[in-house]
Amino acid sequence: MAAFAPPPGTADIFPDESGRWRALENAAVKVFSTYGYGELRTPIFEYTEVFQKGLGGETEVVQKEMYTFEDRGGRSLTLRPEGTAGVMRALSNTDVMNGVEQRVFYIGPMFRGERPAAGRRRQFHQVGVENVGRATPLADVECIAMLMRFLREAGIPDARLVINTRGVSADRPAAAKLLHDYFAPHIGEMCEDCRARLERNVWRILDCKQEHCREIVAGVPDYVAAFSPESRAWFDEVKQGLTALGVPFTVDPLLVRGLDYYVHTVFEVTHSGLGAQTAIAGGGRYELFLPGQNKPVPGVGFAAGMERLLLVQDALGVKPGEKSDVPVALIGLGAAARIENLKLADALRDRGVYAVTELEERSFKAQLRNANRLSADYAVIRGEAELAAGTAVVKRMSDGEQEQVPAAGLLDNLLQKRGKSNA
Ligand code: HAM
Repeated sequence: MAAFAPPPGTADIFPDESGRWRALENAAVKVFSTYGYGELRTPIFEYTEVFQKGLGGETEVVQKEMYTFEDRGGRSLTLRPEGTAGVMRALSNTDVMNGVEQRVFYIGPMFRGERPAAGRRRQFHQVGVENVGRATPLADVECIAMLMRFLREAGIPDARLVINTRGVSADRPAAAKLLHDYFAPHIGEMCEDCRARLERNVWRILDCKQEHCREIVAGVPDYVAAFSPESRAWFDEVKQGLTALGVPFTVDPLLVRGLDYYVHTVFEVTHSGLGAQTAIAGGGRYELFLPGQNKPVPGVGFAAGMERLLLVQDALGVKPGEKSDVPVALIGLGAAARIENLKLADALRDRGVYAVTELEERSFKAQLRNANRLSADYAVIRGEAELAAGTAVVKRMSDGEQEQVPAAGLLDNLLQKRGKSNA
């Protein structure tokens, strides 16, 4: 068969793998529910301005990575590159504007036109949360603690949490001037992107990946000291709260995050199993203008990349996937036996037992081979002779031991073998 691969940066997730995805989703639902979060499902595409306004027109995601197209009416639509902007668009239809707190989580695909690599996809999947409507440092603390609890639940107890503060917009001019004055004398040695960033958005220089730029960036002055006392007090409360909850963290002044909506607390989680630079999750506090509103709405949230969580699980040898069940294989020879087996399979499934049954005429050998391929623990075998005698053969596949069972007692016999009573 000729190979026909999915587009670059996308992947098919086959049943032998999807159990691990389901387990990860279940871990998220379990943990988030204990904090009062409910699931919000928003569209996969939105009007383009939702992301342009939400994430900021200057961000890398908006400038270079969005999948944008026109709908039939000529309106610009974009496949969602992240979850927050769409969630906020949806919440603008609720009473969050009246100070009612909303706690929502989401699980699903996101789309960014990035260069594909291990753990970097064009269609990737996030589990994320947003706590909207509350502006208080303890909301940040609780959100971060919930992320770390989710990671533990997913079998990743040793992730590294890095935090920083972005202050508020009024804090930034003075701090940006400090950075500008520091970088200006070095800018000739820095990369082309950084040269453009110096005047346009000096903060972006802080997360430049070029080695030589990083050497210069390493010496940046303490710009947080130039933030207002209120902003610094907010950050202190976050640090104290995390310490009180026993959540270990490192403060990294170079963490600015790639999206423009952040204020105050920002954070990222990395894991050595992925290489030091790659984040498995990121988030922070933000202020977003909801459509039609002239006052920003405060929120805090994060998103974790599911592909990356799975890679870390691989590195740690964690295999939490739902244990795939093995079937009882119903082997029938002849049309009458096939119908009897179909009925028996139905009854077994009523009790939650996984059963496979042959639906067309195939040889005994072929059916047995299929039972082995599926690792069936028991096979029920019957042909015309067994039907006439009102019996069936039940074969234990591990050692081939067989017993004759009356047809009337077959269901009970199998349920008992599976530790289920026929009550
Ligand atoms: P983000 O840092 O852009 O934040 O993405 C969050 C996570 O999604 C990353 O840490 C990474 O694990 C995963 N991720 C991002 N891009 C890719 C990709 N191309 N391939 C695979 N995984 C990827 C946000 O998206 C914010 N909306 C998070 C947030 C929620 N902030 C506040 N609330």
